[in-house]
Amino acid sequence: MQVTIIGSGYVGLTTGVALAYLGHQVTLVDKNPVVVGSLVNGVSTIYEYGMDMLMQKARHNINFTTSFAGVGSSRVILIAVGTPSKSNGDADLGFVESAVTQIAEQLDGNNYPVIVDKSTVPPGTANRVRTLVNNILIGRRLHPEVNVASNPEFLREGTAFLDALYPDRIVIGAEEQSTTELLIELNKPIIEQDFVVPASLPRPKGYTGPVLFSTNPLNAELIKYASNAFLSAKISFINEFAGLAELLNADIIEIAHGMGLDSRIGDKFLRAGVGWGGSCFGKDARAILYTAQKYGYSLPLVQAAIEVNDRQKKLVLSKIRSALKTVPGSTIGIMGLAFKPDTDDIRDTPAKDLISELLNMGAFIKVYDPMAMDNYKKQYPDLPVEYAMDLENLAKGCDALVLLTEWEQFKDADLPALRQMMKRYIFIDGRNLFDPRVMSELGFVYCGVGRCVQVKELDAAGPKVQL
Ligand SMILES: NC(=O)c1ccc[n+]([C@@H]2O[C@H](COP(=O)([O-])OP(=O)(O)OC[C@H]3O[C@@H](n4cnc5c(N)ncnc54)[C@H](O)[C@@H]3O)[C@@H](O)[C@H]2O)c1
Repeated sequence: MQVTIIGSGYVGLTTGVALAYLGHQVTLVDKNPVVVGSLVNGVSTIYEYGMDMLMQKARHNINFTTSFAGVGSSRVILIAVGTPSKSNGDADLGFVESAVTQIAEQLDGNNYPVIVDKSTVPPGTANRVRTLVNNILIGRRLHPEVNVASNPEFLREGTAFLDALYPDRIVIGAEEQSTTELLIELNKPIIEQDFVVPASLPRPKGYTGPVLFSTNPLNAELIKYASNAFLSAKISFINEFAGLAELLNADIIEIAHGMGLDSRIGDKFLRAGVGWGGSCFGKDARAILYTAQKYGYSLPLVQAAIEVNDRQKKLVLSKIRSALKTVPGSTIGIMGLAFKPDTDDIRDTPAKDLISELLNMGAFIKVYDPMAMDNYKKQYPDLPVEYAMDLENLAKGCDALVLLTEWEQFKDADLPALRQMMKRYIFIDGRNLFDPRVMSELGFVYCGVGRCVQVKELDAAGPKVQL
């Protein structure tokens, strides 16, 4: 099927490459010539596991352009542009509307592709897009016939291709049966799982295909916001209990495990840490709060999820302060800049505010991330931080190491070697990656999230470290 995708970012590019791999003829349009130039040369502009291999295999089915010319010959046009927050929290639909306007200007009256919102957009947007496009067509004296659907995206950065090829569900929000059928046809290889499985992206054991859920566009749009709000609230929930666990000298890892054994709760998204970041949870929570407010309604649980998350991010700073005592002049090594592992995405990363606060307090900051350092340098070119080339260079001369992203590489770190490079041995583990007892035995003054009080007591019982 001929498909056009508008926007070649984290969603557009991975979706486009996956659809091309599955045999569709994909055109990816992006307004950024630097992005398109790089993709034309076969170089991905984002880090995503499996990207190079799939791009290579799919190269005959995919092309990249900045031009909207020819979009009318596609059967489906997927909108995957950004929907950032406005200052009032509302989703900024400027990119969506600009893309849709450019599409409408290209349609010639012979072929009307279905336009599909993949971007996360407030409820009612599909309806607005339909009216917008059809008004432009009326203005051009064309008979308006464009159908607009919602097909929200649930992929996670870091596992985007696994999520694209083996999703839990595909939600299709359409008013007409013909549109639903077209989107089923687009997703047929995924629904039937009849494609050649890429060796490095194996089908999960026991996976038989996604659940297909067909509904109207409004419900589909709201499913996406409700899902993200629920997931962010789940993380905030365990983080809230992590704080209480610390005060009671309990261990949040044990608590989360015990909770997760209940199939009604499940063990996913129950990891206490420095709080969620990334381009979606915060912006989507604010956008749905704003939508509710416009209708005179409140969403106190969603509001609380944001507040708990903001507090959680600040708790790391207070742990650092109380471990270091004198922050000015201390050297602090930040392990991880990406908002989560396996991505180079630094949007709304917990590292950002923490680094600025510590710099304001007079600390010297060193940072290391396996994938996100280039993005960080580009985004904050004047930030006075030292970029280390590896973990040992990071640890050199540090008073404290602060782990913010749970990269697999960090799990395998040579901890005794890192300790040896440090000036003082404070380790703040913002993702509970390490075992407090092991860290204590290795000679670190270790503090996790929701479990560090126990270690302080261990130290009191037999200190192995002298600050
Ligand atoms: N990133 C995720 O993990 C994720 C997951 C699910 C849903 N989403 C949603 O998907 C949407 C896209 O997110 P993303 O992370 O891929 O964004 P992104 O910023 O990585 O990519 C957006 C791309 O769209 C391009 N663009 C913007 N306006 C354009 C226009 N008028 N014409 C052509 N190109 C245009 C930009 O240049 C950019 O390359 C957002 O609504 C987001 O909420 C994101």
